[in-house]
Amino acid sequence: MMFGTPIITNNIGLPEKDLKRMRKSMNERVSLAKGGCNLYTGDDNHDDIDESQVLSKPEFQCLVDPILEHTKAYIKAISSYVDEYQSYIMKSWPVVVNPGGSVTRHTHDYAHLSAVFYFDDPEPDSGGVLTFVRPKDQPLLHVGINESFLDQNSSGLLVDIESKKNGLIIFPACLPHFVSQYTGNKPRFSISCDIMNVKTEGKTEASLISLDRWITNV
Ligand SMILES: [Fe+2]
Repeated sequence: MMFGTPIITNNIGLPEKDLKRMRKSMNERVSLAKGGCNLYTGDDNHDDIDESQVLSKPEFQCLVDPILEHTKAYIKAISSYVDEYQSYIMKSWPVVVNPGGSVTRHTHDYAHLSAVFYFDDPEPDSGGVLTFVRPKDQPLLHVGINESFLDQNSSGLLVDIESKKNGLIIFPACLPHFVSQYTGNKPRFSISCDIMNVKTEGKTEASLISLDRWITNV
């Protein structure tokens, strides 16, 4: 679609043994998903636990290469300069939504791209749907296509993306999103991460340059 917002979804096909190991680790966090939202997000310093780079833990490292490979494919889809960028997972955290829980609308504005990985197919009619909100300044609204003419479910303001087993979703970090109330029986597990794309070759104008060239005091 012209001026569409790129969101990609892929089945990354991790073997059951990897999924089982990660699910075991996620199960240890279920009791942390409590309070009004029945939600645990590992980067939120719950009970003084900081899990803001969970992909560095051995059981989750199997996700790193697939996330970076698919990030490369994402950049390739929108830029012909893909080989001049190096992508970094700057932050990654586990998310547990217990029955009755939800995730309120938010963005990850500080990053370039965000990704989320799901361990399981959704239980039927159990809510917990990841929904993206098209920004009000989406260019389509300024080329004569008023939002009232757009399909609100597909190309409209709200776009639902189904969370599938082994599914990896990559999207612009600035894109608002939320998870509707989850009413399934089992805890809903996912891993989220934020990605920065650094220009390592070619022209650097209007791009983030490599951290090894940044300056700070010592
Ligand atoms: Fe998010």
